Amino acid sequence: MKILAIETSCDETAIAILDARGKLDSATGPRFFVCGNALISQIDIHKEFGGVFPALAKREHAKNLVPLLRKALKEARMLGSRNRTRRDMYTVFSKQLMEILEREPLLLEQVLEVLPTIKKPPIDALAVTYGPGLAPALWVGINFARALALVWNLPIIPVNHMHGHIAAGLFKISATWRVMRQQKTSHNHIEFPLLALLISGGHTELVLMKDFKTFKVIGETRDDAAGEAFDKVARMLGLPYPGGPQISALAREARERKIPTEKYLAAPLPRPMIKSNDLDFSFSGLKTAVLYALRAIEKQTRAHTLAFARELEDAIADVLCAKVKKALEVSHARTFVLGGGVSANTHIRSTLVKLIADTYPETEIRVPPPELATDNAIMIGMAAYVVLANNINLLTQKPDIAADGNARLGD
Ligand code: KG4
Ligand code: ZN
Repeated sequence: MKILAIETSCDETAIAILDARGKLDSATGPRFFVCGNALISQIDIHKEFGGVFPALAKREHAKNLVPLLRKALKEARMLGSRNRTRRDMYTVFSKQLMEILEREPLLLEQVLEVLPTIKKPPIDALAVTYGPGLAPALWVGINFARALALVWNLPIIPVNHMHGHIAAGLFKISATWRVMRQQKTSHNHIEFPLLALLISGGHTELVLMKDFKTFKVIGETRDDAAGEAFDKVARMLGLPYPGGPQISALAREARERKIPTEKYLAAPLPRPMIKSNDLDFSFSGLKTAVLYALRAIEKQTRAHTLAFARELEDAIADVLCAKVKKALEVSHARTFVLGGGVSANTHIRSTLVKLIADTYPETEIRVPPPELATDNAIMIGMAAYVVLANNINLLTQKPDIAADGNARLGD
């Protein structure tokens, strides 16, 4: 089946069209082919503010969605033109569209202008992120999905963003149609129980799944998320938003140049809760420790910045490794999956992979390709297929979707 997926939970506007086939529990597992993929990152816009500014994110999503829809459809060779004027559309759907897009006048204008000129594409279902994320940003995506569902008469599959991050790491994507048709390998067959470590800008959690539809959060952060620690410390070091990739590059340089951390930091940074008896995390102490350490320095040189970047990355990696080890001990997971923007970090990725390969060689490790680690719509489409396979009724229902900024997996 063909799914058109929409993601607008934070600062990436993304639309992807997937062809998804196969049963979840078959020998090969499900197969995914990306027919079209379009994404606009708002990073440069939010950089000025040092973080994501919700009202601005909402406005940018509203501006980007229709152009991205055209781009994704074009890439999928599904962009057929239709000779209907704005007026036709206006008379048939205008009242409902105006209601649906009441709060997004900019988007309504584009929808009324462009949608009448596009032929209904051969899509079977829409998928949209309903949360967690920034509520105003989520609503734009949801209302856009509702507008498309109305005009094209399609069902909508609501997707939890964190479920998307799990799917991004879990499933491999077929490179071509031919490969997809011929695939007889079992690379998307998943063994349970499954342990997921999700590390993003807003979340740090360990999720245990005993099958495709049961999510249990067995550990989570009590304050800042891992990505937040990267971003906040980066800002303190004078680096631009988002800090994760910056710190990661500097830490790599520090390792390559063998910058002696102890020369630039009076004491190592803490490894918060590393020895606690549970699977929870706490990262807010790291920024406080960096704050005090920086205050004690007379003049911050580049070598200081390099040393702090490396030490921060090491501290976060150490805590993540300790908690994953403990979680594997108690869960006996047969599959481990890594997800979320911070999983793009090569050092964290490789230390986790090495730890698991050394201590739990029986556990299969799955990590997302770097381009699917950060927010995208492909992962939302894959998760939607899993949702659909578990609850086929969705296709006949018209779910009333609402944004839930604090949505949790498993509720
Ligand atoms: O999953 P994501 O794209 O958005 C959320 O759902 O939050 O994650 C964004 C987070 C940001 O905090 C960013 O700094 C972090 O992922 N990040 C990284 C790297 N790339 C992105 N953190 C560390 N190293 C990276 N290479
Ligand atoms: Zn995310």
